[in-house]
Parts: sequence; C-alpha cells; structure tokens
Amino acid sequence: MARETDVLVVGTGIAGCAAALGAAREGADVLVVTKAAKPEDASSDWAQGGISTTGTDPETFKQDILDASAGTADEDAVDVLVDNADAAVQDVLVRTLGVDFDVAADGEAGEFDYTREAAHSEERILHVDASTGRHILRPFLNHLADHDSVEILEDTAALELITHEGRVHGAMLDTEKTGEPVYAGTTVLATGGIGDLFGRSTNPAGSTGDGIAMAALAGADVADMEFVQFHPTAYAGDDPFLLSEAIRGEGGLLRNGDGERFMPEYHADAELAPRDVVARAVQDEIDATGEVTLDVSTLDEPFDEAFPDLAAKCEERGVDWESGIPVAPCEHFLCGGVDVDHEGSASLDRLYAVGECARTGVHGANRLASTSLLEGLVWGLRAGEDAVGVEPEAVEAPELLDRDPDLPERFAGEKFHRLRRTMDEYVGLRRNTGDLGRAQAVLRRLKGEVDAYVRTRTARDLYELRNASVTALLVARAAAENTESVGCHYVEQPAAASQN
Ligand code: SIN
Repeated sequence: MARETDVLVVGTGIAGCAAALGAAREGADVLVVTKAAKPEDASSDWAQGGISTTGTDPETFKQDILDASAGTADEDAVDVLVDNADAAVQDVLVRTLGVDFDVAADGEAGEFDYTREAAHSEERILHVDASTGRHILRPFLNHLADHDSVEILEDTAALELITHEGRVHGAMLDTEKTGEPVYAGTTVLATGGIGDLFGRSTNPAGSTGDGIAMAALAGADVADMEFVQFHPTAYAGDDPFLLSEAIRGEGGLLRNGDGERFMPEYHADAELAPRDVVARAVQDEIDATGEVTLDVSTLDEPFDEAFPDLAAKCEERGVDWESGIPVAPCEHFLCGGVDVDHEGSASLDRLYAVGECARTGVHGANRLASTSLLEGLVWGLRAGEDAVGVEPEAVEAPELLDRDPDLPERFAGEKFHRLRRTMDEYVGLRRNTGDLGRAQAVLRRLKGEVDAYVRTRTARDLYELRNASVTALLVARAAAENTESVGCHYVEQPAAASQN
C-alpha cells in the first residue's frame, strides 16, 4: 500500500540522522529507511579517529582542508563546513545527544582530549577512544527513535526513485510487498560509500553506492567520482579493519620489511603526510620489501590503553601488536558522489544527498581526516532544514516486476566477484589509461548482463548489484577521463617515447 511522508531519508548513518533531525525540528514528518538489518549497521558506526572541530583557529583548519585536497576543494563549501562545524558539534552532539567525548586527563575539569591526525596542523579532533562513530551514532538513533515525528524502518531497501517531470517524488521500497511506493515531499539520500565495490575496504558490507546509482539513473548530476580514498593503514591480513590515523597522530611509526622507518623520505610531514601520499608510500614499500608494519611501541601511552578496541581486534586475529601490526592500504572513502549545493540539494528538484554519497566540494581530490562525520552532520542538518515545506504528491509510480524468491545466489555472487576483481586490478591506488579502458569494457558488459536480469524480476540483491555496477562504471569512467594525477587519483604516465 502506498504511503506518504513529508521527508524520506534513505540511510541511517550520521548524515541521514542529522537530516532527519533537521527536518523534524522544523516540524516535518520524517520516514527514515535503511536496507540494513539494524539501523546502526552504517559506515558511521565504524568511524574511528573522531570528528574534527575548528581547533584554535578556523582559518588554519580551513587551510589544512585545502592543503590536504591539493588545493582542489571548493573554498566556498569549505567555508560552510568551517563556519558551522563547532555550533553543530556543540548543539547536536554535546547538548542534544550528550556524547561522551574523551576528556583530558591533565586538563581542567571537563576539558576535551583533542587528538591529531594526518595533515592536521594541531590537536583538534574530538574522539571516544578510537570508536567515535559508534558513540555518536547509537545515541543519535535512540534520540530519533523517541522523536514523535520520526519513524525508522530497517531491512527496507529503496529500489529506485519515483520521478515525474524532472522532480523526485519519493522512492519504491522493497517491503513485504514488492515495490511499495513512498511518496515524499522531498527525498534525502544518505546511503554512504562504495567500499563493497572493492575486495578490501574499511566500510561495512552493503556499501554499494546505492544512492549514487539511483540518483544517476534518475538523471541527477554526479561529480568527482574518480577520487576514491585509500586508507594507508588497514590490517593487512584477512578481514581487514582500520588502524586509525590517530595512532600515527599519537606517535605511531611505519616501518618496512627491513624494519626501517621510511616516511621521512617521502614527505616532510612523514607519518602525518596527507593520506594519499602515505597510502602510496606504504604500497611502494610493501612491493619493495614485502611488508609494512605499524610500530605502536613509540606511543606515549601503551597501545592497549590508548586504543583498547583496536588492541582487542588485533588479539582476536592473533596479531602480536607489540612487535608491529602488518598494514596495507584499503578502500576507505569516496570524495565524490551526487553533486549538491550548500544545502545538500541535488540537480533534480526535491532530491537531496548528504554524507559520503554526496559531493559537496569540501574534499576535492582528497579528504582531510575526521571531516567525514563533520560533513555528514553539517550538511545533514542543512539539508533536513531545507527539505521541509513540500507536500507529497502521488504521481504514477514505476511498475516493478513480481518478486523472484528464486534468484540464483550464484548469479549475484559471481557478478560481484568479477566487479570487485576489476576494481581492485584496474581502478585501485595506482591507475593507468590501459587498465581504465579494460575496467570500463568489463564493467559495461557486466552492467548489461545485470540490466537484462533486472528487466525480468525483482530481487533486492539484484538491485544492489545493479547499483554497484552503475557506480563502479561511474568511477572507472571518471578516472579514465581525468588524465592528471591529483590527490587520491594517481595516474601512472606512459614511459616517455624513446628519442632515437
Ligand atoms: C581514521 O581514524 O584514520 C579515519 C578517520 C577518517 O577517515 O576521517
């Protein structure tokens, strides 16, 4: 049965929560949906390092963001972030949610313990151990669950947007009954990143670029899709997990397979150089010496006291952290996405995008650490506040085919495997024109096969696969079109033609 809401939010990470809060505070009825089994199964819950404040000087924070982006971030968008950062953190996280940020052991009573991460010129990052995301997201979801005008539905995927005459009117949801329309005055996409397009990622499973694909298929502009950030220090073994930059911020060092510290040879800021520089250096040293380890014996505090959750994760995997943790780069964050303005509004009327699925311009070609939760919070609130006041309209909804309970699992499994192998091999940390051409050819073929299947039946896996193939192709195409290395998009140039 069709239903109506003022604002539909797709996704329950910090950006989706902030959008819901912003709209609900303005008096709107908000329906929040997530395909995850539990609302907290969102990338934000996995965020470690923290959420940046502006520190002692907003201008320096702004400059750090611009420098980390190799000068490519949109200065006006960065101003929006910087100008609204501290008020949003104080209002929502501290006062409304009461997030229990770590306090300084030796400071004045209640003074926060600010930490530092790569490319930040001072300690300005609020954190709770190295599990900051979880300590923000859970109270946020609890707060929304108690809100009279917010309803959260889990295990409810948005399959496609409902559009009519260039406007977005909600989405088709995968509920008990296939393809139930939800008509919304406005629709806010907050579906997170694209980690599941790669073999190794710091994102939870299911990060398949759904919002980006749905928006692109509906005709919205996307931008900066080539800027996929690889984190330099994920655990190098099976079942990778992030080893926060905060560890290097607190004095952790990187050593190659010969036990030598190498970062000072790559960049004046050594272990605290911009993330893309460290990621490529780590990969070079792995290629040259067999492995790279994160030496945590140099921290001021014992590792298991400073980062108890991470020490526990090492122990679960049998890693003796005292002798160094094997690390390797791993897909972490998409800087591009659905192109939006300062209110999170996309190029299609009544459509918004916030958080990792959006391209606000704040990150340009490379994101500064601990600005993703902040961007999600600031843009989420702005989008939610802007998205109110539009009546839902029951236009003609797309016809979806009957649910097929018998979708061969093998079909989705094999296609996902091929997609991830293609992205890993051809669209990774180092790219070249030939590989990017090959990637597009494989992905186009794969998308064709998936599209043909989507035309015959409805199944959530199939939609996820379609979204993944659309998004992967957008990344590969954007990477091929940008032949200049900048930020996290690194293109190997062909060897100069011989002179003789
Ligand atoms: C980290 O903790 O290293 C990740 C922080 C971020 O991606 O902003």
